[in-house]
Amino acid sequence: MTDGKRYTAGIVGCGRVAAMHAKAFTEVPGTQLAAAADIDPDKLDSFCEHWSIPQRYSSYEEMLAQADVDIVSVCTLDNLHGPVTIAAAEAGVRGILCEKPMAFHLEEADRMIAACDRAGAKLIVNHSMRFEQNYINVKEMIEQGEIGNLRTIRANLLTTDQYNPSSWHTRYETAGGGQLMHDATHIFDLIRFYAGDPEWVFATVERGNKSVTIEDLGAGLFRMDNGTLFFFESGGRRRYGTYEILIEGDEGRLAIQHGAFNSLERSAGYGWEPYLHRWRGGAEPVEWEPVATQRQHAWINAVNDLIDCIEQDRESVSSGWQGRAALEMIMAVFESQRRGLARVDFPLDIRDNPFGDMLSKGQI
Ligand SMILES: NC(=O)c1ccc[n+]([C@@H]2O[C@H](COP(=O)([O-])OP(=O)(O)OC[C@H]3O[C@@H](n4cnc5c(N)ncnc54)[C@H](O)[C@@H]3O)[C@@H](O)[C@H]2O)c1
Repeated sequence: MTDGKRYTAGIVGCGRVAAMHAKAFTEVPGTQLAAAADIDPDKLDSFCEHWSIPQRYSSYEEMLAQADVDIVSVCTLDNLHGPVTIAAAEAGVRGILCEKPMAFHLEEADRMIAACDRAGAKLIVNHSMRFEQNYINVKEMIEQGEIGNLRTIRANLLTTDQYNPSSWHTRYETAGGGQLMHDATHIFDLIRFYAGDPEWVFATVERGNKSVTIEDLGAGLFRMDNGTLFFFESGGRRRYGTYEILIEGDEGRLAIQHGAFNSLERSAGYGWEPYLHRWRGGAEPVEWEPVATQRQHAWINAVNDLIDCIEQDRESVSSGWQGRAALEMIMAVFESQRRGLARVDFPLDIRDNPFGDMLSKGQI
């Protein structure tokens, strides 16, 4: 802390999502943007100028060694989430807001958690919907029995993004996987938020488009330990994107939708605001009713939570352990494919990334 009151923040990776973090550090009282690092000098300069950030670094190692920062946001490509988080913890920062997916594999996630524990740094893995009141409202609606007992959740997370071969998202070395790592991680985390831990999964993963080194289809069935069945499809080789979750109880249903694939842009920087509808079943046919939602900035809520975690010495609702659990679901999907579409039980007994393993052996 610079003056005993404010938390200074540094951002690593000055791309698209970094603007959300910068906005949060600008808005949250008691935080101050002090430094940023990016290997791309043009991005670094324009970002620092736009957000009036005084200290610029061409590497995160330099930033951590020289800048006086209390909080670090990790906004890089997925392959650097682990290394930057571990380096930030070892440099003595007090809080880390790491973008999703948490890590490349469970071994790396475990090292991140251990490094933060050793250093006493609070870690948040930014699964944004945990910081969005609309999704918290859905959890309360489920818990209050508005749709009866939870039976089934269905999620479609379809995107065209993986067809751009120049994007880092399309390469295993930088992304660790495709749509499963990129967006399904949010949904897997949300399903745990609503329905508890997974018991087992059957899944399939394909790489139909051989010009990219990520999966472009993932589909499967989880059984959660409260008995809820969770069906998902991600990727899906469409010419359009969708983002839809249908939550079915024995008395009704809730539907969560984004109208466009890119919700960040659609909602003009306000995060993950969904279209939400409720349907109550019965003998008579009924219409879907809209449920009011409110605009939120999930990153502002995440930064507020991180500061509260530091000050109250508590774990976040989106802690490293929660981030690891979402990653474990993704790894289990890959593992089901590696084992020949076998049922995979939780907790998972592997710590590598099965997709990378299959890729290196020409099995996918
Ligand atoms: N929580 C959310 O809703 C959400 C939304 C979008 C993106 N994300 C996540 O945020 C991360 C970044 O995504 P993005 O869309 O901003 O990507 P991006 O490509 O726009 O930005 C990444 C930045 O990292 C920089 N970078 C690369 N190597 C670096 C290094 N060694 N040191 C410092 N900087 C380096 C790049 O130059 C680039 O500016 C991804 O992990 C993504 O999954 C999360």
